Amino acid sequence: MPFNLKGRHFLSMKDNTPEEIDFLLQLSIKLKQDKYAGLRGNNLAGKNIALIFEKPSTRTRCAFVVACVDEGAHPEYLGKDDIQLGKKETVKDTARVLGRMFDGIQFRGFKHETVEGLAQWAGVPVWNGLTDLYHPTQVLADFMTVLEVKGRLKGITFAYVGDGRNNMANSLMIGAAKMGMDFRIVAPASLFPAKELVGECREFAKERDAKITITDDIGAGVKGADIIYTDVWASMGEEEQIPERIKLLKPYQVNRSMFDKTGNSECTFLHCLPAFHNTETKLAKQFPDICEVSDEIFESRHSQAFVEAENRVHTIKAVMVATLGR
Ligand code: CP
Ligand code: NVA
Repeated sequence: MPFNLKGRHFLSMKDNTPEEIDFLLQLSIKLKQDKYAGLRGNNLAGKNIALIFEKPSTRTRCAFVVACVDEGAHPEYLGKDDIQLGKKETVKDTARVLGRMFDGIQFRGFKHETVEGLAQWAGVPVWNGLTDLYHPTQVLADFMTVLEVKGRLKGITFAYVGDGRNNMANSLMIGAAKMGMDFRIVAPASLFPAKELVGECREFAKERDAKITITDDIGAGVKGADIIYTDVWASMGEEEQIPERIKLLKPYQVNRSMFDKTGNSECTFLHCLPAFHNTETKLAKQFPDICEVSDEIFESRHSQAFVEAENRVHTIKAVMVATLGR
């Protein structure tokens, strides 16, 4: 059933119903099929889209740009050193200026309050492309991939392993609770998610009989998992904590031994990317134990990380079309 999301923001998914999330996922699948069939969309013709980035990005930036161009919109990249936001101009003033020029605004950055402020004052739809607290467009791509690989979301056993209180853990927990999954956060106790958010998610979970488990027990946490998901151990802006996180999270590395503990030979590996899975990158050369996933699992038949990366464009397109399209 179609849902009218016109004019709505997409900030944390807390205010989206399960039906709306279903609708965005089905629209994403349709837009992917259309693209594969060579059908060009024109749903965002004449729209101008501002893309504000305080933090770096490969997937999110490119997905927004490609999705805009595919649907006939004009994307404008606004990097942190390109605009006055934060240095000479407040969030409220920036929002009121951009809202008079653009039809939609994407924000990626540090404080979640910034994207909330833009949403409050811009007067046009605002989409969260990642903040310190949440990364909701990524969750749509993750769930679209689960649908493609497993055929359903309801009842899927989804184990998120690693930094249990970062933006991915938070957003996956919100989404999984709304979509009726058996969701586990497997992390050391010092990296458990905030109690208040867990409480909110347990409320969301009631509507679709979801289950939420927060545990530091790796064996129990990944047992029977259909999906194992991980993310970097230190998120953007936390680089100085890398040595401490390596010590804490080394036992939580996703590797063959962890996959064996699932007891499920068809367990799928997901990762939002970028991932440390070998020591070829600059940071991994500096910290050789930084890998949250072994190269063996990352490159194995279990991994759907690149399908998931591609799905960023289809899901982001769905969010823009649904909230802004004709
Ligand atoms: N997954 C993700 O958001 O990647 P980028 O940081 O490259 O945008
Ligand atoms: N938790 C990661 C996600 C990157 C897509 C970060 O914030 O750096």
